[in-house]
Amino acid sequence: VALSFILAESALELVPEEIRRSPAVASDSRRRGKEPFEILLDRSFHHSSMARLKESEKRGRPDLVHVALLSVTGTPLYLEGHVKVFVHTFPGLVLELEPKTRIPKNYLRFRGLMEKALVEQPEKGLVSVYRSTVPELVKRRSKSDLIIAFSIRGKMENLGDVSKEVAEAKSPAVIVGGFPHGHFSSETLSVPDRLVRIDESPLEAHVVASRVVYEVEKVSRRMND
Ligand SMILES: C[S@@+](CC[C@H](N)C(=O)[O-])C[C@H]1O[C@@H](n2cnc3c(N)ncnc32)[C@H](O)[C@@H]1O
Repeated sequence: VALSFILAESALELVPEEIRRSPAVASDSRRRGKEPFEILLDRSFHHSSMARLKESEKRGRPDLVHVALLSVTGTPLYLEGHVKVFVHTFPGLVLELEPKTRIPKNYLRFRGLMEKALVEQPEKGLVSVYRSTVPELVKRRSKSDLIIAFSIRGKMENLGDVSKEVAEAKSPAVIVGGFPHGHFSSETLSVPDRLVRIDESPLEAHVVASRVVYEVEKVSRRMND
């Protein structure tokens, strides 16, 4: 299987223009000795300034993105080079990981890596950065024949059955939301063949991500035996 894993509309971005001069951002910028445009938007530090951002509830949680990426990039399926990871962010930049790239487990090192990537936007390397919507990403970069998005608003399905379909596809893509609250935009929702719910309760992105990758891994191992 050549699985594309898309963490969509992720709560990972540099502090946006609108709040770069706000008190919370200014004091964080002084404390860190970095310019406001070089710092990741983070609700733990910028909460009081974030209220005026549109869809604020979906943004400023790079820690969630970190945990979700660790749970995907630590799996055997990923380490063997069968998963391509795309982090599509709320403002529309995509970070693409070169296959098998490990990301720092330490959050501060992860933050440094993401800040550098988002400021410099390298075209190639372990993390490349470009502008793309989820529909463009699926069409151009991952050329998928089966696209499944996971959402609490989806139709309840058995994850084992869905994963079997995914593992049997030639170039499937799975989409998980990289945000703490809220739902996919209508743009993202135009992409998947199916919207799937895997539990009655809302789960965290890292739990859904690791379960999906593990189930696909189990099926593809069985197919290769
Ligand atoms: C913290 S949730 C986002 C909040 C949203 N209210 C929700 O529960 O779907 C992060 C992501 O995990 C996935 N997710 C969470 N619960 C799920 C469920 N029960 N079934 C399928 N996917 C789920 C979705 O992709 C969602 O975008």
